[in-house]
Amino acid sequence: MPKCNCGENPFVIKTKNIELYNSLPENHVLKTLMEEHFNIRRFVSEMEEAVKELLELNELPESTPLMTDLYRVTDHLLRTERHHIREESVIMLRLDKEMVSTDDLNIRTDHDDLRLMKRRFAKLVRSLYNTPLSSVRDEVSELSKKISDRLQMHIETEDTVLYPLALKQIPGDQWETMTKECDKIGYICFTPGKD
Ligand SMILES: [Fe+2]
Ligand SMILES: [Fe+2]
Repeated sequence: MPKCNCGENPFVIKTKNIELYNSLPENHVLKTLMEEHFNIRRFVSEMEEAVKELLELNELPESTPLMTDLYRVTDHLLRTERHHIREESVIMLRLDKEMVSTDDLNIRTDHDDLRLMKRRFAKLVRSLYNTPLSSVRDEVSELSKKISDRLQMHIETEDTVLYPLALKQIPGDQWETMTKECDKIGYICFTPGKD
């Protein structure tokens, strides 16, 4: 997959916590994560669109832009690992240190489950090149729905509970160091304003 420039695409602001987003300064760790969420949501709806189109077919034509679309979207959803690593090792470890429990939010479990689901989905998409559509149709349909539902719920929990909690509980003087830690971990091709 060639290096893409999707981070430069204008993102559509979509969150259940617009107050938090608007209150954060540019380049704040949480603002960047929220902007990545906007783009993750975009890829989720593009996945849903592509899967809907796929399910309307009886078999896959020899060459179709649909496969390129599915491949691109799947690849981008898989690239979210660095986003999860920043959340776990920069934010959640600090909350652990501050003795703030986030266990009931299931963030780490979501990350683990989503990783497995996305990998399985990517494998299914690749299999479409040499497997009859009819044999994977049901699993593609079910799995894309599961990924979409779980991701939307996960993002909502982070925007409305985890991030506000982090902002409240982590001392203000730590956020500059946290930005540096995030820079070190790195960003994704669709992180707005980052290389
Ligand atoms: Fe997450
Ligand atoms: Fe997230």
